[in-house]
Amino acid sequence: MNHISKRKQDHVDLCVNHNMNHKSKTTGLECYEFIHNALPEINYEDISTASFFLNKEIAAPLFISSMTGGFKGAISINQQLAEIASTLNIPLGIGSLRIALHDSSVHDSFTIIKHIVGDTIPLFGNIGAAEIAQNSNHPPLLSILDKCYADAIAIHLNPLQELLQPEGNPQFKGVLHGIESFVKLYEKPVIVKEVGAGISMNVARKLLDIGVSAIDVAGAGGTSWAGVELSRNSDAKFDDYLWDWGIPTSECIEMIAPFKNTHAFELYASGGIQSAFDIAMSIALGADSVGMAGSIIKSLMNDGNQATLTMIENLIINVKRIMFLTGSHNIEQLKLATIKKK
Ligand SMILES: Cc1cc2nc3c(=O)[nH]c(=O)nc-3n(C[C@H](O)[C@H](O)[C@H](O)COP(=O)(O)O)c2cc1C
Repeated sequence: MNHISKRKQDHVDLCVNHNMNHKSKTTGLECYEFIHNALPEINYEDISTASFFLNKEIAAPLFISSMTGGFKGAISINQQLAEIASTLNIPLGIGSLRIALHDSSVHDSFTIIKHIVGDTIPLFGNIGAAEIAQNSNHPPLLSILDKCYADAIAIHLNPLQELLQPEGNPQFKGVLHGIESFVKLYEKPVIVKEVGAGISMNVARKLLDIGVSAIDVAGAGGTSWAGVELSRNSDAKFDDYLWDWGIPTSECIEMIAPFKNTHAFELYASGGIQSAFDIAMSIALGADSVGMAGSIIKSLMNDGNQATLTMIENLIINVKRIMFLTGSHNIEQLKLATIKKK
């Protein structure tokens, strides 16, 4: 097994079998509550959770975040994630395609997804910032994105992870320019995401000014990628305080949502999303869609695909209940639901 395959497998194993969450930091969503609406003036059965993701209609404002690919077990994981996403009609992120740029023998673990989902759901590829900074990587990346029939790409910004990864590559000079030239080259939408340390207002402004289509905040409060890499890194020089480095998810949403007044883009909330309340509150704070990674892979590996499907179905039903109790007919109305800081 090559070293990237081994790393991808380690990531799944650590996230499933150990507690890789932030230790003292939370999403901050729990600091808010909805104001109960005793006069909702709607019938429960008339409520619709249908939503849009990059102009495609989906069943709920929820997606499975980019996770894996590139090792033997990833074929089965991606196959099951694809079946779940396609059954539920929600978007799916493919794991980082970096390994596929170097090793065509692992392409199946990525391309299998489209065979299952067909044209039903939005499917987005994934690549790291460091790769995107190298213009020479663009043609092979475009070719593998084509092979996956991706509808969009998510570029991940992960300076904290690269810094702590034993084999990491903390070379971030030229990343913004690299994203800008990729936005011009790629004919489909470009999403930019973090991986659990969050995107600030200043970073969001720079990304929106170069024309990205969507920002996924991937804030702190869920999986800590510092935690994952510190667990793989026996270098004692690293300080444990970095485990909890990052901007809580709710703060990212609050900082970035006001750009909706000046820029056309979609805002995605992820990082520590676990409950229907987290989903609904993220929407009420200004997100268009909400992503989940860690809790989905844990459920899939520990409880199987049927239980994971049921878990996500229950999340959507409970979002609908919150919509009823806030008088929200649809997701656009949920965005306007009255909330308060506790
Ligand atoms: C097993 C696993 C693998 C991941 N691999 C990737 C990846 O390849 N590319 C990426 O952008 N993010 C990756 N992530 C990060 C997630 O997409 C997400 O941004 C982050 O885990 C925070 O969400 P969470 O708290 O719901 O896990 C991965 C997450 C998990 C749990």
